[in-house]
Amino acid sequence: MMPTPPPPAELIDLRSDTVTRPTAGMRRAMAEAEVGDDVYREDPTVNALEERVAAMFGHEAGLLVPSGTMGNQIGLRLVCEPGQEVLCDSEAHIVTYEMGAAAVLFGISTRTVVSDGGRLDADQLIEQVREHGNWHLTATAAVAVENTHNRGGGLVQPLDQLQKLWDWSREAGVNVHLDGARIWNASIASGVDLATYGRLADTASVCLSKGLGAPVGSVLVASAERIATARLWRKRLGGGMRQAGVLAAAGLYALDHHLDRLAEDHEHAQLLAKRLGVDPSAVETNLVRLDDVAAPVVAEAAKARGVLVSQVSARRIRLVTHLDVDRAGIDRAADVLAELLDR
Ligand SMILES: Cc1ncc(COP(=O)(O)O)c(C=O)c1O
Repeated sequence: MMPTPPPPAELIDLRSDTVTRPTAGMRRAMAEAEVGDDVYREDPTVNALEERVAAMFGHEAGLLVPSGTMGNQIGLRLVCEPGQEVLCDSEAHIVTYEMGAAAVLFGISTRTVVSDGGRLDADQLIEQVREHGNWHLTATAAVAVENTHNRGGGLVQPLDQLQKLWDWSREAGVNVHLDGARIWNASIASGVDLATYGRLADTASVCLSKGLGAPVGSVLVASAERIATARLWRKRLGGGMRQAGVLAAAGLYALDHHLDRLAEDHEHAQLLAKRLGVDPSAVETNLVRLDDVAAPVVAEAAKARGVLVSQVSARRIRLVTHLDVDRAGIDRAADVLAELLDR
């Protein structure tokens, strides 16, 4: 059996759930993957992953892309034409961390509303939608929703609001894109199944490289027609990979072995919240926010004691639980942070 390489140091890395390294089992699955040239659509492992993820979300087809950013951006392009706009909340990943890609790549403008900490309020968005066919206005072609919400502290979007937005969108002829980088966490935390989330979106990008622990990859799901167009965009953007089955195998392994265990990450986040005086009801999944702290000072001091955290702002620290930090690591991190924060 291939041994898992030791961590680079005895660090407890709570900066992000993207820092996980493939387990021995995952590496074995990658090494043994059956592969072919995926640009020719001849990689059986990629095809299996795409079909499996599409089916999980109740969509016709899926497309493996290298990153969540590419999944989101191609997804947006599928539901919005150049010169039209996508509406989303002002803290959304697509407008905060994706380098203005919709504008730079596609001539899509984004319009944002300030939300209550990222929580979806369907009426608030609907109110802002601009109609098609009015030559004075930039038409709103799509609304984008993030679930769970990263800057919202991992919050799970309320199902009734998702449903309301969806029902309205069918009447209004507006598309819905889901940034589902952590939709797995939302489903585990809420008990709402993935197919339910999937049927409330025209396009959805879901990541294998966050809580699921794969090294690379996201899958964009949509109708077969849209995914055929997405395939062209992926190639155009340089995302057409060849023997990508080695990556897809990691994704399939993650779906088999790392999905249900997300509940453990959520428990760990609750433990951190309780130890650090954070309202546990503000922690819905695997992210914990520490507010009103001297973030750079705390982060530096924690690092010196072997605990890595993210500084979101000068006064906010973020902790993210994941596969590579076990209960003992959580307890140690809690001890270090509780002492530094005097909590
Ligand atoms: C909510 C959300 N969407 C999209 C992404 C982008 O994923 P990637 O880093 O794979 O481009 C991230 C990354 O952390 C994210 O948190």
